Amino acid sequence: MSYKASFRVWRGDADDGELQDYKVEVNEGEVVLDILHRLQATQTPDLAVRWNCKAGKCGSCSAEINGRPRLLCMTRMSTFSEDEVITVTPMRTFPVIRDLVTDVSFNYTKAREIPSFTPPPDLKPGEYRMQQVDVERSQEFRKCIECFLCQNTCHVVRDHEENKENFAGPRYLMRIAELEMHPLDVADRRDEAQEEHGLGYCNITKCCSDVCPEGIHITDNALIPMKERVADRKYDPIVWLGNKLFRR
Ligand code: SF4
Ligand code: F3S
Ligand code: FES
Repeated sequence: MSYKASFRVWRGDADDGELQDYKVEVNEGEVVLDILHRLQATQTPDLAVRWNCKAGKCGSCSAEINGRPRLLCMTRMSTFSEDEVITVTPMRTFPVIRDLVTDVSFNYTKAREIPSFTPPPDLKPGEYRMQQVDVERSQEFRKCIECFLCQNTCHVVRDHEENKENFAGPRYLMRIAELEMHPLDVADRRDEAQEEHGLGYCNITKCCSDVCPEGIHITDNALIPMKERVADRKYDPIVWLGNKLFRR
């Protein structure tokens, strides 16, 4: 059974834009991205929308639907009533390029700022050994599809452009936590997380975890454990003494 849905889509560029109303056909089993493609095919050939896989795996089609950060390809039309107006807007935290497409290079900049996996210098490739429990701990973090919905949602940068320079965001603090939990990584991730990547800005509101399409427990399994490790170091009397004696 098909019907006509009311769509309100943000159209514009970096300088100016507005919400525009459309009526678009919807068929059984379709997702919001299908409707935007039909809109492109029938009414607005110049509508800009980024996508690739249409299977929830590439992380390209992130936007906001009725104000909620979502993947366009994983949001079923059956979750809305037929008379509901469905508003689609670009991710708010990143600069708009055009229509629903934003410039997400903030995230690539943050990714580059994190030093990569650093094994002990005397260990050669092929000699790495680790426990299954350590493998499993990081497995959850590796489900990340880099959709940046968590980065878009976190209030630390969503409402405060000025924090962007000093805050890596949940996705990249999770990356630091993953490396910190790796038994063969010897880099100092704790001070780095706190001093350079703004772990202290996170006040564990968990909004990042709520919007993650992969269901990763970003706050509970990465950010809180990372905060605990930072606190352990800070309040450990031996470490405190070591810092006093050797860091002058
Ligand atoms: Fe997207 Fe989740 Fe990865 Fe954040 S952690 S970028 S929400 S998949
Ligand atoms: Fe932001 Fe997630 Fe922390 S939403 S404040 S990074 S728990
Ligand atoms: Fe790939 Fe939506 S198009 S995640």
